[in-house]
Amino acid sequence: MQKSAHTKPMTRELQTVTSGRPATDGNGVKMTRIIGTPELNMLDPFLLLDAFETDQPQDYIGGFPDHPHRGFETVTYLLAGRMRHKDSAGHEGVIDPGGVQWMTAGRGIIHSEMPEQENGILQGFQLWINLPAGKKMQAPSYQEFSPDEIAVENLDNGTEMRVIAGITNNGTSGPVTNQHVNPIYMDITLPKGQRFEQAVSDSDNVFIYAIKGELFVGDSMREISHRQMGVLRNGDQVVVTANEETRFLLVAARPLNEPVARGGPFVMNTKAEVLQAFEDYKQNKFLGD
Ligand code: CO
Repeated sequence: MQKSAHTKPMTRELQTVTSGRPATDGNGVKMTRIIGTPELNMLDPFLLLDAFETDQPQDYIGGFPDHPHRGFETVTYLLAGRMRHKDSAGHEGVIDPGGVQWMTAGRGIIHSEMPEQENGILQGFQLWINLPAGKKMQAPSYQEFSPDEIAVENLDNGTEMRVIAGITNNGTSGPVTNQHVNPIYMDITLPKGQRFEQAVSDSDNVFIYAIKGELFVGDSMREISHRQMGVLRNGDQVVVTANEETRFLLVAARPLNEPVARGGPFVMNTKAEVLQAFEDYKQNKFLGD
């Protein structure tokens, strides 16, 4: 059968690059805020992306003592160090390097996220993904996977893909599921000079974050350096070429296209719903039952 011109994949080119800005959150934890800044307020359905990477204990030791969330999901992915989380409903666990906690806060939880170490490197990411209006008040739930439960695909050219969510072109499927926005969350290591391709939905919002090294995006080979994030233009194929050995996150999801009302740890559709969240929190309705 002859292929029509329409079936040729359209490569996503680089739209914008951001380095984020330094931020402090929790009890004095230093990080770089990449999404959720004046330059990039959100990338629907992504509300926030924090990258933390430090070997200075004073920059992370305070952790994130008890705080609430309502209306979205928090995804914590660690590269180095360990974090202990504990919530108001009695759920507790430790995230190890290479492990992920995908928490659906839904109608609300109060939790703490504390480093489980007093020295050494702490490195990782927290991404907030919005929930659609009809799911914001669902019961809280978790999808937690230890490092060895993350799907790994190795290619002959030395590429390693750690697949947390989504499906690779060869059919390797990540353990996390989310029917609302069909996310892709992959951690890819690409040897120098090698090319990486991944199919994505044309309607998704897609970004790449360079964890290590320098890489080129798309057919026009525009560069993203270490600790930069690139937002990609439309298309149905992501193409990355490694200028040197590189490691990067590829994250994609379908936008919700709903009104967003933010109030710190609460993200709802209207201001009234945010005020209600503050009220419910004040009245101890976040305890979980
Ligand atoms: Co939290």
